[in-house]
Amino acid sequence: MNAINKVGIVGCGLMGAGIAEVCARAGKDVVVVEMTTPAVTAGRQRLETSLSRAESRGKVASAAEVLERIQVVEDIEALADRGLVVEAIVEDETAKSTLFKRLDEVVKDPDAVLASNTSSIPIMKLAVATERPTHVLGIHFFNPVPVLSLVELVPSLLTDPETTERARAFVQDDLGKHAIDCQDRAGFVVNALLIPFVLSAIRMLESGFATAEDIDQGLVRGAAHPQGPLALADLIGLDTTKAVAESLYEEFKEPLYAPPPLLARMVDAGLLGRKTGRGFYTY
Ligand code: NAI
Repeated sequence: MNAINKVGIVGCGLMGAGIAEVCARAGKDVVVVEMTTPAVTAGRQRLETSLSRAESRGKVASAAEVLERIQVVEDIEALADRGLVVEAIVEDETAKSTLFKRLDEVVKDPDAVLASNTSSIPIMKLAVATERPTHVLGIHFFNPVPVLSLVELVPSLLTDPETTERARAFVQDDLGKHAIDCQDRAGFVVNALLIPFVLSAIRMLESGFATAEDIDQGLVRGAAHPQGPLALADLIGLDTTKAVAESLYEEFKEPLYAPPPLLARMVDAGLLGRKTGRGFYTY
């Protein structure tokens, strides 16, 4: 099995930057593609902030040395020579399918693995946008990527087992993550369990049953969760939480997955959680 040394990431937001960081920390050559010049600048800044924090905590010897292995660019053609591309753009099926079609044209190596970090969009929808569905799978990282060790590997019905094994070797042996295997169903393992829990907490707040602080303290102090469900929603991003809930609802048609009106109104208002400075809490 060929090792993967040249990695491409599309999207340098919360997840794309985290994935780029762990790949570069593992010694990989990384190219990240963003859409606009301001997004490239913001993405670079995100990487610098995270890596200098890691350096000050003694997690990396030299932030500068890791940053040297990462290029953030606007031109998608820069992914032509990559052995693995991980897509981490907005959770929107049309945007992702369009991108996979483009990646299929741009990435030259026929053995290259084309992966999505999607939380809830069926991998098959992205695979069939390409002429090489055998090389497409989900590699779902968790936020914050440099801290959380889990990765969900999600082959579609058409993924070649060799593709899955190359992805497994990359995330486990090269990145030092722990991989679990999931079927290609919305939410995979973790979000299928976590999102209804977060939505229940939002419904509890919405009904006036308890305050945000008390709901979160209930789970932190009463169930030993590291953070409560509303703080977790703020960390994930309320737009992403809503998008994942919608995909789960679309797939299973279960009311427990339907985004509550409060979540929808907060997204409309631009109160997206930590990334905008205000969600259920103010940052
Ligand atoms: P984000 O909103 O922080 O970042 C998305 C980035 O993609 C933005 O910087 C945007 O400019 C860029 N982008 C959008 N379209 C693009 C395109 N066509 N080409 C290049 N760049 C483009 O979102 P986040 O949270 O990083 O999520 C990304 C993906 O990761 C989503 O699919 C999400 O479901 C998934 N995910 C999110 C987690 C979370 O906790 N936020 C956890 C695990 C997966």
